[in-house]
Amino acid sequence: MVYLNGNFIPKDKAYIPVMDRGFLFGDGIYEVFPVYDNTVIGLEPHLNRLQDGLDAINIENPHSKDEWINLINKVVTLNNKNSSQAIYLQISRGCDENRKHTYGKLKPTIYIQSSGIEPKDKRDLIKGKSAITREDIRWLKSNTKATSLLANTLYAQEAKDNDSEEAILYRDGIVTEASSSNVFIVKDNCLYTHPKGPNILPGVTRKIAIQCAENLGIMVKEEKFTKEELMQADEVWISSSTREILPITSIDGMSISDGYAGPVWSLVYDQYQKLKS
Ligand code: PDD
Repeated sequence: MVYLNGNFIPKDKAYIPVMDRGFLFGDGIYEVFPVYDNTVIGLEPHLNRLQDGLDAINIENPHSKDEWINLINKVVTLNNKNSSQAIYLQISRGCDENRKHTYGKLKPTIYIQSSGIEPKDKRDLIKGKSAITREDIRWLKSNTKATSLLANTLYAQEAKDNDSEEAILYRDGIVTEASSSNVFIVKDNCLYTHPKGPNILPGVTRKIAIQCAENLGIMVKEEKFTKEELMQADEVWISSSTREILPITSIDGMSISDGYAGPVWSLVYDQYQKLKS
């Protein structure tokens, strides 16, 4: 079951008009909330980021935080309450009479759906995943969680076509993030990730991973690092709401360190898992 504009309906009965600007222009904002055993991880920062995104593209937030929480909880309940779910929430600017670039005040289209999150076994993650690198040619508002994701989807597909988990992006030699996740490196027991700003999405999992590391007494620096430093790192990880924190052990066909997930990842991963219980 999904939520569309006030109704809870089966997904195959959920339609939007072709004049929706989400369809015509990718004119909308979205969020993905990870839910484990009926508990949303990072609920508050996800809702705050939703507000920031709406502000950034001048859409008035159609709901209060409490109203959003009720809608999310309802979708969770309708889709097997106790399972692990990724709740996808999208707000597009709405429908106009004709297709034109400019817009007036429209009634936003609101859509919420649930999909399963595959359970992960830490023993399978130790081997790590592979990634490719690509030049980051995205717009300079990558901190806005906009539904117009063509560059990201093309990068993700290139990664898939290369049997890789992710495409790690760099701009002017600096690693920004990946096609649908944030990137971390560990060097000499210090954790580095690109600082917040227009070049990266301020990931909620990134924020939680930083908190987990700091709670463990690990030094964290939100500082830029180069593609060379990425390749020479002791550990590389990616983070996202659906992937959690995943080790990357091979990039562009080259092993990272000894080619296995590292000890810092292991500690932070375990700390993150505790949030689920
Ligand atoms: N993607 N960077 C990009 C470009 C992303 O698309 C995502 C998440 C992240 C990580 O953000 P968070 O930790 O808040 O999930 C970073 C989601 C999961 C998606 O597009 O489906």
